[in-house]
Amino acid sequence: MTEMDERRELTALQREINYHNYRYHVLDDPIISDYEYDMMIKRLHELEERYPDLVTPDSPTQRSGAQVLEKFQKIVHPAPILSLANAFNKEDLKAWYERITKLDNRVKNSGFVLEPKIDGLTVVLHYENGVFVRGATRGDGEIGEDITANLRTIRSIPLRIPVEENVKNVPDRFVVRGEVFIFSKDFDALNKQLEKLGEKTYQNPRNTAAGSLRQLDPAITRNRPLYLLTYAIVDTSINVTSTQWGTLEILRQFGFPVSKYCERCQSFDEVLNRIDHWMEIRDQIPFEVDGVVIKLDNLDLAGKLGYVGKDPRGAIALKYPAREVSTILKDIGVNVGRTGVLTPYAILEPVEIGGVIVKQATLHNFDFIKEKDIRINDRVMIKRAGDVIPYVIGPIIEVRKGNETPYLIPDKCPSCGQEVENVEGEVAYYCVNSSCPAQLVRNVEHFVSKEAMNIEGMGIKIVEQLVASGLVKDYADLYLLTKTHLLTLEGFAEKKAENLLYSINQSRNCSLARFLNALGIRGVGEVASSDLARAFLSLDRLALASIDQLQMVEGIGPNIAISIKDWFERNSNQELLEKFKKLSIWPVEERQQERPEDLPLSGLIFVITGTLPTLSRDEAKAMIEKAGGKTTDSVSKNTNFLVLGENAGSKLEKARTLGIQTISEEKLLEMIKSK
Ligand code: IVH
Repeated sequence: MTEMDERRELTALQREINYHNYRYHVLDDPIISDYEYDMMIKRLHELEERYPDLVTPDSPTQRSGAQVLEKFQKIVHPAPILSLANAFNKEDLKAWYERITKLDNRVKNSGFVLEPKIDGLTVVLHYENGVFVRGATRGDGEIGEDITANLRTIRSIPLRIPVEENVKNVPDRFVVRGEVFIFSKDFDALNKQLEKLGEKTYQNPRNTAAGSLRQLDPAITRNRPLYLLTYAIVDTSINVTSTQWGTLEILRQFGFPVSKYCERCQSFDEVLNRIDHWMEIRDQIPFEVDGVVIKLDNLDLAGKLGYVGKDPRGAIALKYPAREVSTILKDIGVNVGRTGVLTPYAILEPVEIGGVIVKQATLHNFDFIKEKDIRINDRVMIKRAGDVIPYVIGPIIEVRKGNETPYLIPDKCPSCGQEVENVEGEVAYYCVNSSCPAQLVRNVEHFVSKEAMNIEGMGIKIVEQLVASGLVKDYADLYLLTKTHLLTLEGFAEKKAENLLYSINQSRNCSLARFLNALGIRGVGEVASSDLARAFLSLDRLALASIDQLQMVEGIGPNIAISIKDWFERNSNQELLEKFKKLSIWPVEERQQERPEDLPLSGLIFVITGTLPTLSRDEAKAMIEKAGGKTTDSVSKNTNFLVLGENAGSKLEKARTLGIQTISEEKLLEMIKSK
């Protein structure tokens, strides 16, 4: 290959990766496997190292968030970033409509657009000649803060527009407004992960998104599951549309994510009719929505109507009723996390919130209890928003009866009874007893979990038994268990013991990425583990890596690098690794040697539906992925095969409509064995 060829390959790769990124993160419809994507990124890194002059700001490698800032600069918005007036019921909406119709009769013919009011943070994204150059927070509406480096790490933000090559006429200057937020399921997963790591959990998705955007170290932002939806053009060098519906269409065409829930209504009567529907779908929207925004479709007219204070007259937000109720806090329980962090939770008088009975709620940390002066027997407000785990907002002090007792932070660990410690200036209280059984239980629970060693059949109950009986004092002890050992435990008979030993044995051949994740190194979760495995290929090499070398890996910032180094330097961990080595459990990254086209299912996308005769869904997925295939949750035109089990539902219909081939589990297994 000549230099010219390589330079051409590099530029083509940048564009192609940006496109696949868009397919994955914006359209939710990938057309290549994660593995192929990773290989492309790897190749691009190699080429960019050779030709640094071609590393442009819109290169997908620039999403890594490598440089740390000292402070945020200011950005003056090209036009005021306005807010919205609120309505609380249909009467308020009607009054709004009458007011603006009186001001300008053309309102009657404008049409309206309904959009979800996303409970996130406004961001303003600047594109020059199609390239993302700058991004700001809302600030005071006139001046915001420059958070470009953080925004770059959000995969749904296009670094260059248009993303699809056939789209023409992107204005030289194009400034877009959108909302950054976290999907409810990602928020819960993030908190679960933090809980597992024994770290402080987040209070709610909005605050977490806000905190993540205001990080001076973009590597931190990169690891938060932030997402973007856009809804307005703030400034443009050439007018591209004069309607709100047209705006959404243009944004979509250029490659920005736009909510699929947006809809156009011909008349105000239609708006009123649709509002009932919006009330019903609230729970189906996978992110927190605090209302419906009703916008005049005719933007010229909306502009002419002007604004009152910071609220434009041409739009209004109908707020959803708050999902908050009060109940009695009967007691406060305490969990001991993997690193010994103690986390309090509220035990509640069961209460219904939006159709769900809530018995427990998050209390975040002990500082929160103190700050809010939450007492046992208090009547407290609880919030359940979207699918997020319910949390306590605070006590209703006015209704106290006198039987409320202040809560005392336990001075002894509820599990091992040892003294609890609190580092000056930190919120967390720790049990520092490294052999505290509760911590070991949490650690082993993580070690055997699906994302880690995936030891099937080893639930929390068994982990607790193994730790309590002293059979398991560290992870490696799991591999020394025998049938005789297991039979001493309550509830174990021959078959159960054999099955468990079989699963334990199966896990010996896991990938390096899984093994790393399983070790539970602080800050090293699933994503970092895969990145590290790919970069270092073996545990021996990773163990020897310097902090600088660790930081060369995309997504590994200084804190994680230090935490990895510390982990490998600890004597007890070195002993643990020695033990694993003796047991021949020493995974290496193998993907390098396997070329993707050698794998039987390379390039094929599968969807699984219904109950399969022998495999669980996760097993089937894992087998497909191991064989080079990819699985997705929904059927699209890119799906190659629908694996059909019993009681299949709508996916089957969709596959039939799209003419996608269905196969049985048996056929799938045949295909996997075929090479
Ligand atoms: S339009 C003139 N549309 O709600 C444009 N705002 O309470 C005014 N928001 O600050 C904003 N989703 O951060 C608009 N679909 C949407 C929105 C939305 C969420 C936020 C936005 C704004 C706040 C107003």
